[in-house]
Amino acid sequence: MVRCVSISDIEILPIDPLDRDLVNGWIGTQRAVAAHDLPGEPLPSPSFQRLRLLLWSAAVDVERYVARREGAVIGALQYSMPNRDNQHLIELELEVHPEHRRGGVGTALLEFTERRAAELGRDTILAFATESLEGGPRFDHSGREFAKARGYAVVDQEIHRRNDLTLVGDDELGRLYAEAWENAAGYELVQWVNECPDELVDGMAMLNERMYTDPPMGEDLDIRPAVYDAARIRNTEWTAIERGQTQFNSAIVHVESGELAGMSNICLLPGEELHAWQQDTIVEEKHRGHRLGMILKIANQRLLRRYRPQIRYVHTWNAEVNDHMIAINEAMGYRPLCRDLDVQKKLS
Ligand SMILES: CC(C)(COP(=O)(O)OP(=O)(O)OC[C@H]1O[C@@H](n2cnc3c(N)ncnc32)[C@H](O)[C@@H]1OP(=O)(O)O)[C@@H](O)C(=O)NCCC(=O)NCCS
Repeated sequence: MVRCVSISDIEILPIDPLDRDLVNGWIGTQRAVAAHDLPGEPLPSPSFQRLRLLLWSAAVDVERYVARREGAVIGALQYSMPNRDNQHLIELELEVHPEHRRGGVGTALLEFTERRAAELGRDTILAFATESLEGGPRFDHSGREFAKARGYAVVDQEIHRRNDLTLVGDDELGRLYAEAWENAAGYELVQWVNECPDELVDGMAMLNERMYTDPPMGEDLDIRPAVYDAARIRNTEWTAIERGQTQFNSAIVHVESGELAGMSNICLLPGEELHAWQQDTIVEEKHRGHRLGMILKIANQRLLRRYRPQIRYVHTWNAEVNDHMIAINEAMGYRPLCRDLDVQKKLS
């Protein structure tokens, strides 16, 4: 379906992956936004953005649009919409080229989004904005101010930390790792790259569901329990592999019961030589208190370094109240970079 909407002098149109000018304009806009707003942080890779246009997990529906003025792309929208659970939600990425801001383009794109949400039967829009921290790099606050002006409330916030892997040496990590294992008799470590062993896939589905209920979350953030099964885990893995991503995974098994007690994963994007992205880390409730979180994080960082010794930075996000996870991250060398805000609007 081709939709083309005209709002005063801008057109909002869906991205056709075969339309070279639109795709180039979309990628150029995203790179200009990142360079302007988050100086020093990695820019979106053109080749990976092209893969993202074609491949995403079966558990989400995705729509992407650009805003065009006089033939040039000046803004972009992406909607990620879970289809197995959380069917009330649109996760929105909205960007306006830095040279075209404060002229109402962002507002026009947001109004388009709210109309589209109503058509799609979704009543919650969740977006993301960045806030600098005292003593940290100065990042742009347009997203935060725009959200406030447009009636989006801050419903959750996380500190984005970055680990410079050159700063905490192997000896110190080895000491922390050995100390942690002293508390973890009866557990064993399992590691893999990309595809989980068959005997762990149901446990991975269970822990993925727990990621939606266990970590601390803002009270008004309307994220509801998720539904995972083995097929969803396999499809997520397949999508990542097809996009050329590498997923490093560590898990802990409780030997006596065979249960999966915890897991942690790091994602590496194709062609990226410096930065990797921490994803989930979770220890199942009844297995907490054995330092499994520390074991998982250190073991997985070591796995990443074995495969990609040149990677220098790993990024992670934690709720400010998640003291336990933060203590582990700080011990490993993670330091605050900025605050990421979740901004949400409930449509009536
Ligand atoms: C946020 C963003 C989309 C705004 O785009 P835009 O086209 O400049 O938005 P608008 O011109 O419609 O701004 C609407 C209102 O938001 C507020 N606003 C937007 N940027 C602001 C800024 N830098 N400082 C203060 N207020 C700002 C103002 O109230 C503005 O109205 P005004 O210009 O009449 O004062 C753009 O800055 C951007 O792409 N930022 C990076 C991506 C991002 O943070 N997205 C998250 C959005 S929740």
